[in-house]
Amino acid sequence: MNSTIASKINSVKVLTFSPTGTSRKIAETIAQGVDINNVSLIDITREEEPELTFSDEDLVIVAMPVYGGHVAPVALKRIQNAKGCGALAVAVVVYGNRHYENALNELAAFLDDRNFCVIAAGTFIGEHSYSTPETPIAVGRPNDSDLLFAKAFGKKISNKLSSKEFDKPVETELIEQPFQDTNVMNKFKSTIQEWMKKGVQMPKCPSLDISLCQDCKMCVKLCPTNAIDPLTLDTDSEKCIKCCACVKGCVFHARFMPTPFAPLISENFSIQKENKILL
Ligand SMILES: Cc1cc2nc3c(=O)[nH]c(=O)nc-3n(C[C@H](O)[C@H](O)[C@H](O)COP(=O)(O)O)c2cc1C
Repeated sequence: MNSTIASKINSVKVLTFSPTGTSRKIAETIAQGVDINNVSLIDITREEEPELTFSDEDLVIVAMPVYGGHVAPVALKRIQNAKGCGALAVAVVVYGNRHYENALNELAAFLDDRNFCVIAAGTFIGEHSYSTPETPIAVGRPNDSDLLFAKAFGKKISNKLSSKEFDKPVETELIEQPFQDTNVMNKFKSTIQEWMKKGVQMPKCPSLDISLCQDCKMCVKLCPTNAIDPLTLDTDSEKCIKCCACVKGCVFHARFMPTPFAPLISENFSIQKENKILL
């Protein structure tokens, strides 16, 4: 541990749920910037950790994706019994360049309720789970510059840890909002309302093009909720959370998500948003 760190923090724990890998990448890069070598990963993407008890010697970087303007519900369910026990936390939400709405406040309140002290927060952009070559959304993000930003955020967290105010909590409502054209957001919302009025059906899970499938079962392995039957390769739509891990992880492009949200978001949210942080 670097001797300049004034708090008694001696370990960094990266806690993430990340079906398509962007939240994990961002959280691990933030951790690289923190001046503490003892870093471990708690990845709850594919299974729940039976015991999640932290201590006031831990800095926990919690990075979760945004689904429908909220923290992915399954992620919160998997950490509902976590005990912060006074651990310092960094709350990070990762979203696909549309918006994160109240997700950051939600995550911070969730951690606060479990006795974590949220000393820093961030909203970061990750390639949208629904992005395809035909309907690109935030392709390649986090990119090199996002990762530099994430690492620099880690360094700023270190600086805070070595200051007198190392355990001063942040008010996540105060984080700077990314630029968003109100007309574009209103158009997006009114399109969804029209779809609802017309009863437009949304896919309940990704589809499989069996002619392209090589039966490698990568989709089965990647699914966070065990929704794909290993023998039939059918997806149980009750279990599917539409995370698209199976789509993005299929090297044969046999899985696809035929959602009308992909072209709608691609068309309306092509201006790249900036990551924002608060310490
Ligand atoms: C079901 C679902 C809902 C989503 N909702 C939003 C959203 O409301 N706003 C947004 O900007 N991105 C949204 N996204 C995109 C993800 O937040 C984004 O792709 C994120 O980088 C995924 O994180 P991961 O790579 O850690 O899985 C959604 C993705 C999925 C699968």
